[in-house]
Amino acid sequence: MPRKVRKAVFPVAGMGTRFLPATKSIPKEILTLVDRPLIQYAIDEARAAGITEFIFVTSRGKSALEDYFDRAPELEASLRQKNKTALLERLEPTNMDSGAIAYVRQHEALGLGHAVWCARRLIGNEPFAVLLPDDVIQADHSCLAQMVEAYEKTGGNMVAAMEVAPERTSSYGVLDVSGGSGRVVDVKGMVEKPAPGTAPSNLAVIGRYILTPQVLRNLNRMTLGAGGEIQLTDAIAQEIEANNDVHGFRFSGQRYDCGSKAGFLQATVAFGLQHDELRDEFQIYLNDLVAQPHAAE
Ligand code: UTP
Repeated sequence: MPRKVRKAVFPVAGMGTRFLPATKSIPKEILTLVDRPLIQYAIDEARAAGITEFIFVTSRGKSALEDYFDRAPELEASLRQKNKTALLERLEPTNMDSGAIAYVRQHEALGLGHAVWCARRLIGNEPFAVLLPDDVIQADHSCLAQMVEAYEKTGGNMVAAMEVAPERTSSYGVLDVSGGSGRVVDVKGMVEKPAPGTAPSNLAVIGRYILTPQVLRNLNRMTLGAGGEIQLTDAIAQEIEANNDVHGFRFSGQRYDCGSKAGFLQATVAFGLQHDELRDEFQIYLNDLVAQPHAAE
């Protein structure tokens, strides 16, 4: 049985240019879906998968993220004094055990592979997960938990995969699949952002990974890939050649690309419609809007 996955890396050092001007002063990962920032969804998913050590790769201007996972003594005292227990409970998921969260800086945004490499000393020599918080996955059972369960049988490296329309493959890392059935597929090749018409399949990699420490050693070579960036996909693909132990995992759930404005809006609607306090009112509003597009003006 492979070693337990205890650590997860959250690369949050990107510039989030697709959300400018908002991201000039607010980290993209603090943008809020209904009432929780994107990063909270990723942390909850990781916790549900048994992760106990959380490593953030941050950059300048991201201090709001560190504050979010810190205690807020004045706020807590004020809520306690007013007996606002329900509100205090809402803060609970933001509390981290002392020492469970660590921050490391990526001084220059050289790519996702480089961001993960920046965490190498905190990861050490054990398998680890990577979660990109701008991929939000709505699922009955945490996507990373599904992957951890599959990984316990396969070991090696595992990437979350989903089918995308052929014209969208050039925005993703794409898998070349050799076999396997059901949720786990064997991967014989991976290509980051293939030129239109050249993708080996329409099975795209999305932002959840379970990786061996060998991937970190591959990243030591600092090879530049697509877009002139140090790509995580390339470092994982080297493991196919060296050890043939990369698996794709077709997760069950709905993924939203909250790194894009359209995806973020879709997620807002989906999560709004699932929210206990909002569902009914929001549903009525949406029905009216569809029936009478100018009603909202
Ligand atoms: P994106 O490609 O979505 O990049 O990175 P971005 O810079 O955040 O956003 P745009 O494209 O400018 O709008 C995917 C994930 O990888 C992290 C990002 O923070 C995001 O979680 N990342 C990317 C890094 O941590 N460092 C990098 O150098 C690049």
